[in-house]
Amino acid sequence: MSAPATRPEPTADECAAADAKATFDSLRPHLDTLVARYPQRAAALLPVLWHVQRARGWLTPRSIREIAEYVAVPQAQVEGVITFYTMFQDHPVGRDVVMVCKTLSCRLRGAEAVADALEDHFGVPMGGTTADGRYTFEAAECLGLCDMAPCMLVVDADRYGDLTPESAVKHLEDRS
Ligand code: FES
Repeated sequence: MSAPATRPEPTADECAAADAKATFDSLRPHLDTLVARYPQRAAALLPVLWHVQRARGWLTPRSIREIAEYVAVPQAQVEGVITFYTMFQDHPVGRDVVMVCKTLSCRLRGAEAVADALEDHFGVPMGGTTADGRYTFEAAECLGLCDMAPCMLVVDADRYGDLTPESAVKHLEDRS
């Protein structure tokens, strides 16, 4: 498992492309139904973030400003939540984000070899995105799937366990 690639700041074009996928006003009807389930607007922050990320692919600076205003919390609080939860992305990512567990149980059962095989096969280090935009790979802390170690998770989709280097590559190739 190589060190995560240094991530450049998103460009203005990348931000604009993500924002153009869905205006905030177009998301508002569904967001209103989410907020209505909670006693306070701020309590809906996680599902609101998730919905906007699904719609735009990642959480752009504009998304963060709009969400902060929408749920009536400081922008710094939204940024803190995005930083804390690794499944939220504040930079452009591929169509699917693949989290490869690097914590002890998985490491003891071969997670490093799994990550190395993925990096070699897809030609991108942890933290990077394949040239075709299909996958972004992230080295992750415990995914809560220790009984399936070593494991990986395709965010918002599938989880794979008892991996070998070969099966990890095949699972992702079969998804393509
Ligand atoms: S240590 Fe890998 S899922 Fe828990």
